[in-house]
Amino acid sequence: SWTAANIADQLIDAVREQVGEGRAICGLSGGVDSAVAAALVQRAIGDRLTCVFVDHGLLRAGEREQVEKEFVASTGARLVTRDDSDTYLGFLDGVTDPEEKRKIIGREFIRSFEGAVSEVLGAESESGASVDFLVQGTLYPDVVESGGGAGTANIKSHHNVGGLPEDLEFSLVEPLRLLFKDEVRAVGRELGLPESIVGRHPFPGPGLAIRIVGAVSRERLDTLRAADAIAREEMTAAGLDDQVWQCPVVLLADVRSVGVQGDGRTYGHPIVLRPVSSEDAMTADWTRMPYETLAKISNRITNEVPDVNRVVLDVTSKPPGTIEWE
Ligand code: XMP
Repeated sequence: SWTAANIADQLIDAVREQVGEGRAICGLSGGVDSAVAAALVQRAIGDRLTCVFVDHGLLRAGEREQVEKEFVASTGARLVTRDDSDTYLGFLDGVTDPEEKRKIIGREFIRSFEGAVSEVLGAESESGASVDFLVQGTLYPDVVESGGGAGTANIKSHHNVGGLPEDLEFSLVEPLRLLFKDEVRAVGRELGLPESIVGRHPFPGPGLAIRIVGAVSRERLDTLRAADAIAREEMTAAGLDDQVWQCPVVLLADVRSVGVQGDGRTYGHPIVLRPVSSEDAMTADWTRMPYETLAKISNRITNEVPDVNRVVLDVTSKPPGTIEWE
């Protein structure tokens, strides 16, 4: 019978069989799929798995800590974090075109991942071992979409930050390739992953860079991060996480509007809330969120986040609007 416990056991056995005495690497994105895949492989082969997390400086508040603390605490997995945030900020300096941002981040992500992998490989080879397996959180819908071929080193190009290096010679371990998202969540809960990871909403690989309309800077990232944290906190407090598929919070960095705050006139930036309801992100409708929650979010953002004096709600369905603004 289908229980999360049965499925988890079967998947762990299958990984053990595939990897044997080998070693594996898994890139964590902060999202559900890679976390559950890694947790399964960790159960199967323990410390012969090394997880890699790249901090590109475009993450939301608390995401790195969630991986470094909660993921590690709940799985016991070995984790290498690579902080390349200065590099990404440097390359993104002055860039406003959304596709250009994606291209830069995708390119740099491959470098970061390769760098982290060679660190791991270096450490492993000193101990005489090699790493032969790359763990990926590919789900059944991804398999169908990409033609269903069994994976070797052919890493899918729609990886969430634009693909991984093609010249890395790994066999792929894809323990989730027969599962749908809700099944992955059930298995993750079964493995003891915290709700903050298992229930996480989709978040794009290029991160906050494509939620700043205008050029990315450290200051703008801080502004957006603070607003985003407030919106997420209030939506969770209002019990809306299941009703909302995801809610991009967007900083219109190139737009200014006049406000009156405290003792005087301000000339600040608007924040856009983009809560959407969806089944698969292909189409979406804007979520009819309770006015009270919207009011709370708006009050808190304009009171607590410097440089923001206005909060607006995006009431566009997809199509015609995409979920993200860029
Ligand atoms: P759009 O904006 O196209 O988004 O309606 C559909 C879904 O895809 C996510 N998204 C991305 N995810 N890299 C990603 O990993 C990207 O460049 C990217 N762009 C959009 C978006 O968050 C939504 O879930």
